[in-house]
Amino acid sequence: MNTQEIIDIEDAFQIPTYNKLPIALAKGEGCYVWDTEGKKYLDFYGGHCVTPLGHCPPRVVKAIQEQTERILFYSNVVYSPLRAKCAELITSLAPETLKHVYFCNSGAEANETALKLARTFTGKNSILAMNAGFHGRTIGSLSATGIEKYRAPYLNILPPASFIPFGSIDEAKKALEESDDIAAIILEPIQSMAGIVEQDPSYYKELRELASKFGVALIFDEVQTGVGRTGTFSISDQYGIKPDLITMAKSLGSGLPVGVVFVSDRIAASVKPGDHGSTFGGGMVSMAAVIGTIETIIDENLMEHAVRINNRLKEALSPHVVDVRGRGCLMGVECAEPVKPLISALREAGVLVGSSFDPNVIRLMPPVNTPMDELESFIDIFTKTVAELEVA
Ligand SMILES: Cc1ncc(COP(=O)(O)O)c(C=O)c1O
Repeated sequence: MNTQEIIDIEDAFQIPTYNKLPIALAKGEGCYVWDTEGKKYLDFYGGHCVTPLGHCPPRVVKAIQEQTERILFYSNVVYSPLRAKCAELITSLAPETLKHVYFCNSGAEANETALKLARTFTGKNSILAMNAGFHGRTIGSLSATGIEKYRAPYLNILPPASFIPFGSIDEAKKALEESDDIAAIILEPIQSMAGIVEQDPSYYKELRELASKFGVALIFDEVQTGVGRTGTFSISDQYGIKPDLITMAKSLGSGLPVGVVFVSDRIAASVKPGDHGSTFGGGMVSMAAVIGTIETIIDENLMEHAVRINNRLKEALSPHVVDVRGRGCLMGVECAEPVKPLISALREAGVLVGSSFDPNVIRLMPPVNTPMDELESFIDIFTKTVAELEVA
């Protein structure tokens, strides 16, 4: 099948939920992917912030392969040495008051779980969320997603939520004073789809204080920022605070669908059997992928390397564009003009990057183990393409 035939068949049978790139991928290795025509791309989009170790990282692939020969799956009705190992490993990296976990299969499911746990724990019903925040497309997660076009068609069925500007402590305080029914404040610490928007660390501290004062659970959606991508396992460590619940997904399984909720000791103590569940959550093959991913990140000091990558990209790209921001390997590059033509030109030149809801911002989500040579190749192609298009 040639590329056009593949596109035609997918489009004929899949419901049209996605805006797609006009390429079909055949394989990936490290920072690179190859399309079915044999063209090679340097992948700084990471399959949508998913591949922390690049494509097919050998240690993760080996762990998955070995597990597939032992047992593919059994549900949480039994114990598993792999799930035990994964839970112990992953909680060892979590903030010290969040030493319990719930494994699931995606970011949206992790967020729904966190929202549900917050409601059960507090006995309250409503959610306070941020304008422009993104937490997923399922009804529960959509209830906290502050993007009007996604929410508007479903307002009649979404659980109650109110939205405030990201960064305004005054608005957060006002909302909490006006309602005694708020169970949780949920936010992306770095709003990614919004164009890599982050607040001063003092904001997160003040939110933490407000949440404690009003008896509200603070949920950090670290579906993108988590698993070391921003330089620490949880970005909350960089702000010096401890949320009550943290969700992670994307990078966790190096491409296998896995999500996790880190749960505070107090909230964990309020949960009993039957309150929640997922057939596939904590499945053995997923657990093998998570262990392989996390052990590689730790053994190879890749959280530090993510910071090195960030520093080099900021230094090299800043003179050519309006702004380069973000932490570790979750970055936004703001140009003076809409970046759509730049994204296409980069693809033509063999580089994949991400877009965002800000038309002038490109997102970079390279692997945290990107070698310095590949980084320099990216910088070279990016700066040349920007100059040719005069978008900066
Ligand atoms: C911050 C954030 N939260 C939640 C989600 C939803 O994750 P998933 O697509 O795995 O359900 C995403 C997806 O892009 C995300 O970026």
